[in-house]
Amino acid sequence: MSRSLGAAFMGRARERIELDALLADARNGAGSVLVIRGEAGVGKTALMQYCARQAFGFQVREISGVESEMELPFAALHQLCAPMLDCLDVLPAPQQQAIQVAFGLAEGSPPDPFIVGLATLGLLSETAAEQPLACLVDDAQWLDSVSKQVLGFVGRRLNAESVLLLFAVRADARDDDPGFAALPGLTVGGLTDEDARELLTASVPGRLEQHVRDRLIAETRGNPLALVELAGEMSPEELAGGFAGRPSLTGMLYDRYLHRIEGLHEAARLFLVLAAADPTADPALVWRAAHALGLGRAEAEAAEAEQLLVIDSLVRFRHPLVR
Ligand SMILES: Nc1ncnc2c1ncn2[C@@H]1O[C@H](COP(=O)(O)OP(=O)(O)OP(=O)(O)O)[C@@H](O)[C@H]1O
Ligand SMILES: [Mg+2]
Repeated sequence: MSRSLGAAFMGRARERIELDALLADARNGAGSVLVIRGEAGVGKTALMQYCARQAFGFQVREISGVESEMELPFAALHQLCAPMLDCLDVLPAPQQQAIQVAFGLAEGSPPDPFIVGLATLGLLSETAAEQPLACLVDDAQWLDSVSKQVLGFVGRRLNAESVLLLFAVRADARDDDPGFAALPGLTVGGLTDEDARELLTASVPGRLEQHVRDRLIAETRGNPLALVELAGEMSPEELAGGFAGRPSLTGMLYDRYLHRIEGLHEAARLFLVLAAADPTADPALVWRAAHALGLGRAEAEAAEAEQLLVIDSLVRFRHPLVR
């Protein structure tokens, strides 16, 4: 059974139009690329999920940068391309060799990122020859640097391939992305006041007084994560008091996630650790490892009930902070 996190997707008319147009281009054989930027919780992943839902007739590859893998060269590229390796033999021999060395399938000195870039372009283009391909790269601020360099190169070279390459980058991250320079970008801000009001109505049980609601919207600047997570758990007195003098948004979220995790029994926490250790977010792999540790559905459901993660076609954490 697939469950979704949070309320229905709201607003974002401008962004939807842009993503729909990119999908249409890719469907018609005009490769397209976009870097979505914005602060934590503003809705970049939600936009990517929208894109995945709209990608009728596409093969969809979804990957995420993983902070703990930033120092591992080619780790993200491996996540993206491992399922495409049956096309490898159509590439020129030096490109095959470069990919094999990059992915640890052959011995050799570290490959030239330029050759790996050409090889990646070849793999994507060959894969998309059968059916259009959407590659959704979330949390791209955490890609290892050579994968970022290679994927940026691929983005600049996409041309007559039925490929959409979409990146989401947290804009307040340490390293903004020289690798993605010169790629078209879309900066996402908060929801409009009207959409924010609708989101609050849908996600906060009970009626919020109008002045409290308006203050929340103003103080969160329409950031949907802040609206949903904080308004949902703050007491009426806290809500009435607003956010003045509070720690940072990330700090407040961190405390709340920690609190929910600490409320779980030990086996469910172990399940979370296990899921966090799998960067590929592959449910089959996580279930196999869970069974080996004597964990199962009950533990996953406990974590799902606390809205810490969801397991559908992928293992999805509510927020990278949970991981
Ligand atoms: N347009 C929207 N309508 C309703 N809910 C939304 C919308 N955009 C985001 N949300 C909700 O807000 C929360 C945060 O959104 P999301 O995870 O997409 O943020 P993000 O920009 O990817 O943050 P991060 O940088 O931390 O990855 C999620 O629970 C999501 O469902
Ligand atoms: Mg995200």
